[in-house]
Amino acid sequence: MVARPPVRVTVEPMRVEDIPAVHEIERASFTAPWPSYAFRQELEGNRLARYLVARDGERIVGYAGLWQMVDEAHVTTFAVAPEYRQQGVGQHMLLELLRIAETVGASVATLEVRVSNMPARRLYEKYGFRPVGVRPRYYTDNNEDALIMTTAELRSRDMRVRLQRLAADLRARTGDPASDAADGGDEMLIGGVDAAGGPAWADDDRMAGGGA
Ligand SMILES: CC(C)(COP(=O)(O)OP(=O)(O)OC[C@H]1O[C@@H](n2cnc3c(N)ncnc32)[C@H](O)[C@@H]1OP(=O)(O)O)[C@@H](O)C(=O)NCCC(=O)NCCS
Repeated sequence: MVARPPVRVTVEPMRVEDIPAVHEIERASFTAPWPSYAFRQELEGNRLARYLVARDGERIVGYAGLWQMVDEAHVTTFAVAPEYRQQGVGQHMLLELLRIAETVGASVATLEVRVSNMPARRLYEKYGFRPVGVRPRYYTDNNEDALIMTTAELRSRDMRVRLQRLAADLRARTGDPASDAADGGDEMLIGGVDAAGGPAWADDDRMAGGGA
């Protein structure tokens, strides 16, 4: 269960004008934050990158990104504003990121996380990431190891069932009226693809994958 009432956010492609708000969250979240220009370079110069923001109304409350690396989607960054944590924002973004990963043709998603970062590890585990290795002393600020976490095949039945259930739970908890239909339709959707070509477990009211 989330510790606070879940907040309903929209998840959209990141734009250049979002970078100041994104950078504020970045600085509040990481000991070695990316500079603003790194986000700009990613948005303007990296065709293999997809970046998202989560908004509560107009306010940007989280962001996430991935690189499409052949058949792997590599999560490059992921953070929620401190005052919006434990309200489901990370889950909204991860669902969208995994939807994009599948839509751009990735077979799995992978990432590195500090071994001590239990909130992030728990979030990723909940969404089907499993530890597959360690990069010793990966983080140069404190020589901490990185845990490599990777999903099962995104198109596998296990992943589809997991993500459908989590998406339905999240919609129900945020009072989304679509949740009843989603709950009732789970079994019909397993293994299917929605009319827009995206994975069937994805929220209908969010960005179509691959369009960022
Ligand atoms: C990790 C982070 C993105 C999680 O975002 P969030 O919006 O707070 O996460 P959610 O509210 O969607 O929580 C989803 C799940 O994550 C896990 N989780 C989140 N915060 C947690 C905490 N403080 N302790 C334990 N588990 C936690 C739980 O499994 C939770 O599921 P539950 O609600 O069923 O218990 C956020 O803590 C953050 O921005 N941290 C700093 C930046 C960072 O570490 N990024 C990851 C880099 S790899």
